[in-house]
Amino acid sequence: MKILVIGSGGREHALAWRLSQSPKVSRIFVAPGNAGTATEEGLENIPLTHIPDLVAFAQKENIAFTIVGPEAPLALGIVDQFRQVGLRIFGPTQKAAQLESSKDFAKQFMKRHAIPTAASETFTDPTLAHAYITQHGAPIVIKADGLAAGKGVVVAMDEVQAHAAIDHMLVDNRMGTAGARVVIEAFLEGEEASFIVLSDGRNALALATSQDHKRLKDGDQGPNTGGMGAYSPAPVITPALHAKVMREIIMPTLNGMQKEGLPYTGFLYAGLMISPTGELNTLEFNCRMGDPETQPILMRLKSDLVDLIEQALDGKLHETQAQWDSRVALGIVLAAHGYPDHPRQGDVIKALPANSEEAHVFHAGTTLKNTQIQVSGGRVLCVTALGHNVQTAKKIAYAVADHIHFDGLQMRRDIGHRAIDRK
Ligand code: AMP
Ligand code: GLY
Repeated sequence: MKILVIGSGGREHALAWRLSQSPKVSRIFVAPGNAGTATEEGLENIPLTHIPDLVAFAQKENIAFTIVGPEAPLALGIVDQFRQVGLRIFGPTQKAAQLESSKDFAKQFMKRHAIPTAASETFTDPTLAHAYITQHGAPIVIKADGLAAGKGVVVAMDEVQAHAAIDHMLVDNRMGTAGARVVIEAFLEGEEASFIVLSDGRNALALATSQDHKRLKDGDQGPNTGGMGAYSPAPVITPALHAKVMREIIMPTLNGMQKEGLPYTGFLYAGLMISPTGELNTLEFNCRMGDPETQPILMRLKSDLVDLIEQALDGKLHETQAQWDSRVALGIVLAAHGYPDHPRQGDVIKALPANSEEAHVFHAGTTLKNTQIQVSGGRVLCVTALGHNVQTAKKIAYAVADHIHFDGLQMRRDIGHRAIDRK
């Protein structure tokens, strides 16, 4: 069978690579893909991004099913458009994708269904928003309602910062329509983890847990990024907490969406905050897998990913289990000069090591120019390795990453520190 993967990041490279290992697969197309998906055995890039073109391609090529990596096409209704012409596609409809595309929708939904999350209020009027901040004080969190490519959240440690964020979004309209409405919510303390499931609308199959590193610099310093590294499993998610997440967050979400007439199909990612006393809260929903969480999660997946997706498309996840490698997987992001604000393009990537059973270099912002691989985006590569514990996985991943060079390369040296400190 032929499968289409939509997107061009490290997440999509990992999805396409894992899918390509299924004996059922003849070819994986990646639209538009990157230099990694252009050169990986069994994968082929197609230079399409417009939804009607993708629909036409899937029809012409007789694609068995399509998987959507990023949130933007989901929010534009790619799933609705594929389904309208009878094409199989794994993801939420445009309306169900509001769990990610509107923070206000997600917060109201969580309140309606008693899903644990920080107390919040939504504002379009800056005067009322400023008054709310004055009343509640700092630290406090301001979130743009719409999709903002990871730039929509301000964790304000003092009131000056909080008021400035309101002016930035509601007065100066610096984030356009995404910031024309804001959610202001209580600051939560604790440890974050990523909890991702497959959903067929009724049933959920949990993927392995993971943790991301959102700040640019070691020790969780510097600006927020899309993620500078991740590992799986996340030891903070004990078996008891895992059961609690399924019971208090995932199942109430799927049941609630179904009751509201918006059955949720696709990957569902709950960003969790676990307080020092074990209190559980939902920071956000994403309607897709995480990047870079996908890379270590899929390194550990032993089941056939094609089977899992087909079971989900057929509504049979209650009959499905996934097998995981007992090793730890850890991925290190190599980012471009100037990332996250002004990533530089065009730097030449030298000496890419060969992939092995225990280490894989997933591409993100890379492009093939003649025979050279060049930097074309902020997060460039994600070196992901398996090891018998987190220290070993870390050692192997850094040994590979240290062989890679391009001008201006940025990477953290402490990926995995939470899991290591815990031991
Ligand atoms: P979000 O996109 O909502 O997950 O927010 C991005 C990041 O902001 C999260 O990964 C957290 O690090 C931080 N954050 C979001 N909401 C809160 C909150 N209520 N309290 C503390 N930090 C938060
Ligand atoms: N790594 C965080 C995300 O994908 O949203």
